[in-house]
Amino acid sequence: MRKKPFATIRDVARLASVSVATVSGVMNKKAVARPEVQKRVEEAMKALDYHPDRMARSLKTGLSKVIGMVVPDLKNPFFVDLMCGVEEVARASGFSVIFSNSNKDQALEKENLSMLYSHRVAGAVVCSTDAYTAYDSSMTRRFPMVFVDRLPVVGFKGRAVTVDNRRAAYKATRHLIELGHQDIAIIAGRMDLSGGFERVEGFREAMQEAHLPIREEYFQSGDFSLASGYTCTLKLLSLPQRPTAIFSSNNNMTLGLMQALTDRNLSSPADISVLSYDDFPWAGYFHPKLTAVAQPGLEMGRRAVHMLQDAIQAGGEPLGEELVVLEAELIIRESTASPANRSVKDVLPERTHAVTK
Ligand code: RIB
Repeated sequence: MRKKPFATIRDVARLASVSVATVSGVMNKKAVARPEVQKRVEEAMKALDYHPDRMARSLKTGLSKVIGMVVPDLKNPFFVDLMCGVEEVARASGFSVIFSNSNKDQALEKENLSMLYSHRVAGAVVCSTDAYTAYDSSMTRRFPMVFVDRLPVVGFKGRAVTVDNRRAAYKATRHLIELGHQDIAIIAGRMDLSGGFERVEGFREAMQEAHLPIREEYFQSGDFSLASGYTCTLKLLSLPQRPTAIFSSNNNMTLGLMQALTDRNLSSPADISVLSYDDFPWAGYFHPKLTAVAQPGLEMGRRAVHMLQDAIQAGGEPLGEELVVLEAELIIRESTASPANRSVKDVLPERTHAVTK
């Protein structure tokens, strides 16, 4: 069946018996048409299911009102928060967003960036699945890019919005130490991503400051996946001396950790304290309610679009680097408590007040 052609602004003008300029004025709310004229135009637009042809307009003006976003894992609620922040600010400023999922696949990420280029987007917010994929200079020359969450390369010189992972991980670890924990394990995420190694840095800093050793077997290397959180936790639970607390470096690994505790008939915090880097939209329904580092995903997305719009308005003129670093929040709930056999004075005799750093 031949596809019904899209209605044009001329079709609307003809049906409403007005000029094209009148229809345009009603649509752009620039010219105040008489109420009966406005009503005729709106009825004609509805009858014809008319929507302005944005592709034609951007071809004519050379200014696209579409931006792109690439995320590595659409199923991960952290990235959904980012996307909501991006969409909110884009919509408020009259931009549409083409979202694409790289599914943690470098080749797919490159395809997504090419797809966005073929759609002539005005710019893109990129959370790269690998630190280096999207940062290839041949890609960053195509359209303005703002990186979000993980930085593309160490010593990155460009435009990005991220979180002070090191400081957040430091404060989270201090919380465990101040509860009296000494045998604290970490399930690290991908160390090739800025978030992964910065969280380990913050953890290490807090442990060293409290003169607590990081035992080799208490440093488990995950990859930010649920499965790695599960297997790393089983390894920790099978040690002759189990840790009394586990710091999990992201949301997916925390889910794997909790499943492993359940499979071993262990509970938190009674048997082991659990601290999650990343909160969950449904944290209130967990049992126990997780102590978590909540990243400002929504705000990261919003700030990234504001930064991208500056670059778009600069019309391709090279803009200097800009790095926005937001603070994450430690939310203390039920899954962290003092270890059964120790209190805070055993660990920090010289310091019992809450960390202020
Ligand atoms: O689970 C996704 C993780 O990767 C989050 O911690 C976020 O920071 C991203 O880097």
